[in-house]
Amino acid sequence: MDNLQNFHRTNYCGELRLSDAGKTVSLCGWVQRQRNLGGLIFVDLRDRTGLIQLSFDDSTDPAIFEKASTLRSEYVIAATGLVRERESKTTKIATGDIEVYVSELRLLAKAETPPFEIVENSKANDMLRLKYRYLDLRRPDMQRMIATRHKVTKICRDYFDENGFLEIETPMLTKSTPEGARDYLVPSRVHPGKFYALPQSPQQYKQLLMLSGFDRYMQIARCFRDEDLRADRQPEFTQIDLEMSFVNEDDIMEIQEGFLKRVFKEILDVDVQTPFLRMPWREAMDRFGSDKPDLRFGFELKDISDIVKDCGFGVFSGAVQGGGSVRLINVNGHAADFPRKKIDKLGEFVKTYKAKGLAWTRMHDGQVTSSYQKFLTEEENQAILERAGAKDGDLILIVGDVKDEVVFAALGALRCEVARQLNILDPKDFKFLWVTEFPMFEYSEEEGRYVAMHHPFTAPMDEDLDKLETDKKNCRAKAYDIVLNGTELGGGSIRISVPETQEAMFRALGFTDEDAMERFGHLINAFKYGAPPHGGLAYGLDRLCMLMAGAESIRDVIAFPKVQNASEPMTNCPDFVDDKQLDDLSLAVTRREQDEPEA
Ligand code: AMO
Repeated sequence: MDNLQNFHRTNYCGELRLSDAGKTVSLCGWVQRQRNLGGLIFVDLRDRTGLIQLSFDDSTDPAIFEKASTLRSEYVIAATGLVRERESKTTKIATGDIEVYVSELRLLAKAETPPFEIVENSKANDMLRLKYRYLDLRRPDMQRMIATRHKVTKICRDYFDENGFLEIETPMLTKSTPEGARDYLVPSRVHPGKFYALPQSPQQYKQLLMLSGFDRYMQIARCFRDEDLRADRQPEFTQIDLEMSFVNEDDIMEIQEGFLKRVFKEILDVDVQTPFLRMPWREAMDRFGSDKPDLRFGFELKDISDIVKDCGFGVFSGAVQGGGSVRLINVNGHAADFPRKKIDKLGEFVKTYKAKGLAWTRMHDGQVTSSYQKFLTEEENQAILERAGAKDGDLILIVGDVKDEVVFAALGALRCEVARQLNILDPKDFKFLWVTEFPMFEYSEEEGRYVAMHHPFTAPMDEDLDKLETDKKNCRAKAYDIVLNGTELGGGSIRISVPETQEAMFRALGFTDEDAMERFGHLINAFKYGAPPHGGLAYGLDRLCMLMAGAESIRDVIAFPKVQNASEPMTNCPDFVDDKQLDDLSLAVTRREQDEPEA
């Protein structure tokens, strides 16, 4: 095997152009493919910038020609040669006008045949790609995604630095605190029986940094949450985490809008209009059935509870009388796209959101067909169509339930599903939105009590301060989410900085003073020494990169992600450990997952 002694790379493959013709260059990379046409050999050489053709012919040194003939895909080589204009040009690659006529060739490593081809838009199965992630990452689209992520972080660091933010690291080994997702725990060897928790976010530390007077904090922070995975959720993910002192919501939003504007301009050359639209949470739910509405299309929700509350159709009247609601969306102009069979499938779709069914009216070519009209009076039907603004060509989809949350969840998801099926979602259309005035609390069926909707350090709205302990359902928070095209990009709030309010909040969440002191004593004590008003926000960096790169899952912008069951197919973690390691940690395992056969 050759080495790189006295060899210096002069260029990356993908950056050479016709204007470089006549130059002698030295390149390194992987063989994409080799074509041996007898007296002629062509090798496509790949590095992270792209491909270039290397050529060898009958006037090439025979030893070099011979070596070139042994090259196979994914061999690692270095070559020096003359850049020259190609005879048969191609527009398929950026260097398609030129080739490098090789005068020196070094073989640096051989390669076995990879389990899948190293090409753009691989059709290889996801598990296989993740098992061989180091090969998957060689593919040009993955290289681009990871490079985009680097650029986002770089711009982030530059922007916040220019705006006076200090980057400060906070601990990875922290204290487990209730209120939030499940923690990942780390056993302590030195303190048998005690555990650290990996941070779900640096929330408490960044607030303490404000108390320490750092005024503006930023961190690209790894966070860990033991929760079920989805396309936009990983157990281990990264936040752009921010906190500011002596600010109100407007100050925070303004600086964040500046950041997003810059990132979108520099990376995608997209001019984002600021200030972003703001919408109270209540309005977002009423109009879109979601606290992260996608504003790229309409199909807004309309409440028809008042029309159907006493109607003869039990599904509708029962929902309203049971304390819930009946609402519709008008998929206007698209009745033709949804024949009966497709509507039935939509009915199945809403059931996954716990809706009992889907009622509909289809108005197509002057014909009106409906699943419910026969149960209602002429006036009621007319009133519904009027509320929907219905006309020929429209499709009205209705969900009723005794639980409002079910109606919102089902219709909110349905409007997005319908848009997806209609293929009207332009990934290059970026619609930002601040959702504001979130409820302070949400009721947890599982715990049988109110829990903090954002986190226990979020300040209530001044007008709702008195509701903190007395009217939790209607108490609103100084909390905001930044939403982009139906994805929650980030969330934050103005924090409680008054000790008495923080104590009241802990009481509202059901903590005794002792519990609160044991869990959050560091924060409660810190607040006694002069807390500046402060607030902040955290973006999901993975989500931001996913949307900017046009990826479908945050997996695609994470170099080494986990799969659905929170494992990592490449290293095969989590894994069993030696008894000795357990002993050191004073741990005994009582239940073991069956050894799975290798995937
Ligand atoms: P929150 O819990 O809303 O707020 O998280 C902020 C943002 O982090 C991203 N995110 C995730 N991304 C990938 N996988 C996950 N499992 C995951 N969970 C969250 C989302 C989300 O909007 N400390 C507060 C922020 C603050 O108040 O300043 C916090 O963590 O994009």
